[in-house]
Amino acid sequence: MMNKQKIIIDCDPGHDDAIGLLVAYYSDELDLIGVSTCAGNQTIDKTSRNANNLLRFFNSDIKVAKGETDPIKRKVKTCPEIHGESGLDGYDFPKYKEEYDSRPAYQFIIDTVLANKDIIVVTTGPMTNLALAISKCPDITKNIKEIVLMGGSTTEGNITPEAEFNIIVDPEAADICFKSGVPLRMLGLNVTRKILVNNKVLTEASKINTRGSDLFVKLMKVFNENQRTFFGLEFGPLHDPATVVSLINPKAFEFTPMHVEIDVTETKYLGKTRCSKSKPFNCMVATKVNLEEYWSTIFENLRRCK
Ligand code: RIB
Ligand code: CA
Repeated sequence: MMNKQKIIIDCDPGHDDAIGLLVAYYSDELDLIGVSTCAGNQTIDKTSRNANNLLRFFNSDIKVAKGETDPIKRKVKTCPEIHGESGLDGYDFPKYKEEYDSRPAYQFIIDTVLANKDIIVVTTGPMTNLALAISKCPDITKNIKEIVLMGGSTTEGNITPEAEFNIIVDPEAADICFKSGVPLRMLGLNVTRKILVNNKVLTEASKINTRGSDLFVKLMKVFNENQRTFFGLEFGPLHDPATVVSLINPKAFEFTPMHVEIDVTETKYLGKTRCSKSKPFNCMVATKVNLEEYWSTIFENLRRCK
C-alpha cells in the first residue's frame, strides 16, 4: 500500500469546497486527517454545518474544527449569491448530529501540524485560520511540507478587477501565509476559471450513479444557476478541487515558479496577488490545466462515494 500524503483542509463550503473535500476523502493518494472551517462563502456557523454534513455523508468520523467568525482585521463578506442562504443550497442532507472539535481551528492546525511532520495544508477559503496558527506558533512552518491554496490570480480578479475572493476577504491573513517561508502552491482564477461545469461534465457525472455523483449533480445545478445569475457565466467554474486534484494527479496542472506577494494597501489593488518571475520565487503558480486529466480525477472519486 503506497503511503498516502497526509493533508488537512481549511475550507468554507461552499459548493466547490464540497467537491474538493469529497475528492480528498475518497482518493487513494491523500490521507485527509482533519478539516477546519473558515468564514467566507457563508458565516462560520453555516460553513461549519456544511462541512459537518459532508463528512457525515462520507461516513467519516472527522470532527470539524470551527474557525474564526471574522477575518483578522475586517468583517467577513459572505457570498450567498453563489452559494445560497445555507452556503450549500441544492442538496438536502439527513439531519446529521452537529459535533465539532473542542479546539478552535487555529489550535487544531497547530496541534495537527506539530504531530505530523511533512503534512500538506490545503486552503480553499480565506486564510484566516492558517495565518493565526502561524502567528501564534511560528514553529509549525518547519513541519508544513507545502501550503496548497485555491486563491489569487495571475490575471484578473472576481470580486474586484484586481482581487480574488479568498484573498480579498482576508488579505492580511494571505500576507502572513505568503511571507511565512513555507513552500506555496497557488491555484488561481487564471486556471480555475477554465474548469467549467458544462453540460458534458454534468451528463458524464449523471451516468456514474453513486451517492457522490448524485450530490455533485444536485449541487452543481444550483451552483451553475447562481453563477449565471450573478456573474453572467454560462457554466460555473469549479475552483477549489483544483488544489487536491493537483496533489492526486500531477498531469492535471502545470506550474511556474514565481514570486507572489499580497497587496494589503487600502487601494483598488487590495487583495491583488502580485506575481513576478523576476524576483526570488516563493510560490509554484498554476499556469495551465489539462481538463481531461482534471475531470477524470473528479469522476474517479465520485465513483468511489457509493
Ligand atoms: O474565488 C473562488 C473562491 O471563493 C472559491 O474558494 C470559492 O469557494 C470561494 O470561496
Ligand atoms: Ca472556497
